Amino acid sequence: MKFQSKKLLVIGAGTAQEQGIRRARELGCIVTAIDANPNSPGFICADKHAVIDFSNLEKVVEFASGKDFDGVMTFSCDAALHSVAEIVERFNLPGLNHRMVDSALNKYKLRQNCAKAGIPGPRFLPVNSFDEGLSACREIGFPCVIKPMDSSGSRGVSLLSSEKDFPSAYSLASNYAKSGVMLESFMEGVESSVEGFVLSDGVHIEAFSDKIRTKPPYLLDTDVIFPTAYEGEKLEAMRAMAVSVMECLKLNPTPFHMEMMMTPDGPRLVEVGLRGPGFKVFSHIIPKVSGFDVLAANIAISLGENPQFHSAQVCASVIKFIAGQEGTVKTISGVDDARRIEGVDEIEIYVKPGDRTRALKSGSDRIGHILAYAKNRADAISVANHAASIIQIAYA
Ligand SMILES: Nc1ncnc2c1ncn2[C@@H]1O[C@H](COP(=O)(O)OP(=O)(O)O)[C@@H](O)[C@H]1O
Ligand SMILES: [Mg+2]
Repeated sequence: MKFQSKKLLVIGAGTAQEQGIRRARELGCIVTAIDANPNSPGFICADKHAVIDFSNLEKVVEFASGKDFDGVMTFSCDAALHSVAEIVERFNLPGLNHRMVDSALNKYKLRQNCAKAGIPGPRFLPVNSFDEGLSACREIGFPCVIKPMDSSGSRGVSLLSSEKDFPSAYSLASNYAKSGVMLESFMEGVESSVEGFVLSDGVHIEAFSDKIRTKPPYLLDTDVIFPTAYEGEKLEAMRAMAVSVMECLKLNPTPFHMEMMMTPDGPRLVEVGLRGPGFKVFSHIIPKVSGFDVLAANIAISLGENPQFHSAQVCASVIKFIAGQEGTVKTISGVDDARRIEGVDEIEIYVKPGDRTRALKSGSDRIGHILAYAKNRADAISVANHAASIIQIAYA
């Protein structure tokens, strides 16, 4: 096995890390997983585990001391990146340090880094108070977007159409913000994502996808489609944008998940995560659509190895999220029939009759998802839409 007896510390052991932990063990690593949740699913597949709140960096360092780990990593988890960086710095292991993590995780710093490198993006301003926010809106103009500098999952992100939207959106953004709040001009377009790796020989991209989003003010994905519909020059422009952003951040090897808006003026950066995407995209979908073992590559990087990059367009995929409404679920039907449709890989419904549901305002309001694969994009979209049309949820 490739990484026989390498001691790997995995920070976070939730559903997003489970498959990565399994892959690391298949490759021969001795995996220790830590998470605050004693019932973390990743604990079952790890060799060793410990219940530790990884946001407490000192506790994590204390745990890692004297254990001689060969590598430290997380899978698809922004919240664990600073904890990983702390171990990287303290024990001189391969990976991203705090400065590198901050250069992208903090959205304001990311915008500053890109602006410095001459990469076109939206207008952006920090918001340190209610009054400063109001004048920033007037300066940027409407529509504009308010967001925490350091949140994720669209939490606290709202579109402002006029000044009257500001007070509630500002308080929502402030509730989720740790470092601060910022405003950006609204970029109109189709949202696409780029999945890749920074390796020691440069930036590599394994897959492109598009998203369908809810209507404003809450900006949430409803469908994620691999591959993107863009081709030719537009696809090359996406590739070039992704390479310039990753190069300007000057990072050590890392996976990345970049979101961009395809505007009439070309692609514009929304944000970049220094990790694989979540929600099964990294662990299941990308390996299947690109043929590249991204989990193994992520593990290799964390052990200081340089993985051999390759990628192909093997098939297409759609994740379709199911939205609920404000109310109580009365009945759910059609799920088994939908599961039998050819190309449907998985359907999960997170609610049951009697559960209260909410209108879609954040990712946690979603009530289910459909994952479909097909040989091409059009077929994958029709498989997922067909499945969604069969599932009936009635509300009281
Ligand atoms: N400046 C912007 N213009 C247009 N849409 C935006 C802008 N900023 C954010 N969005 C939309 O809001 C979503 C969430 O914002 P993002 O900055 O990615 O925050 P999060 O880290 O919570 O995902 C994006 O995926 C995009 O759809
Ligand atoms: Mg985002």
